[in-house]
Amino acid sequence: MKQEASLFTRLARLPARTLVVVFVLSVGVNIVALLVQYRVKFPPAKHYTYLHHDHPRHIPMGELRTVNMDFHDDIEHYPLNGTQGWAEWNNMHPPGRGALYLGESYWPYQVSMWHQIHCLGHLRALIANGDDGSEHTEHCFHYLRKALLCGGDTTLEEVGQGTVLEGQRQTATGEHIVHTCKDWSQVYEWHAEEHEKWTPEMEQRIYKPAPPVD
Ligand SMILES: *[C@@H]1O[C@H](CO)[C@@H](O)[C@H](O)[C@H]1NC(C)=O
Repeated sequence: MKQEASLFTRLARLPARTLVVVFVLSVGVNIVALLVQYRVKFPPAKHYTYLHHDHPRHIPMGELRTVNMDFHDDIEHYPLNGTQGWAEWNNMHPPGRGALYLGESYWPYQVSMWHQIHCLGHLRALIANGDDGSEHTEHCFHYLRKALLCGGDTTLEEVGQGTVLEGQRQTATGEHIVHTCKDWSQVYEWHAEEHEKWTPEMEQRIYKPAPPVD
């Protein structure tokens, strides 16, 4: 207590000009610290040429919203076969089939989520039509395996698959379990907006799905 009192007394005895200098320096240091903090928090956007490998890892649309998604089998949509099945599976992609042209040179890219959907659709077509023997099939299994692990969905389902509860014959299917998901519809809308700017030439460069075989 005694020491503190003497410190204040000594401060009080300092010339006013010194105190003003100390005050101004302190304000200056704080402003610099705030600016540094701002820079760390909001780094300036990096400029990409979008040529070959010079692109960001994700599509440049910022963080996606999170939404709740109730997982359940859709008995009215996405049948494995038949006219409706073909139409719905082939129309799952956004306009432009999940492809994008980015940068001043309009370099073509595809987005992984739609590549994954495409692979699932390919596997579905095999079930409906029979194996086409393409290497594409094996690629799709590898690709989807990685995609599922990459998603790392740790949502708890009440009974682990393959676990049979005593006295019950059915195992849990994960039906009506709510998952926290990225809002894929934002990506869909972004593609749709981008696609409106496409030229007929850009349209032609994108792969079109094969028509149903029947
Ligand atoms: C799917 O539909 C086609 C055409 O109707 C048929 O030939 C084929 O056998 C069906 N596939 C399966 C797995 O039922």
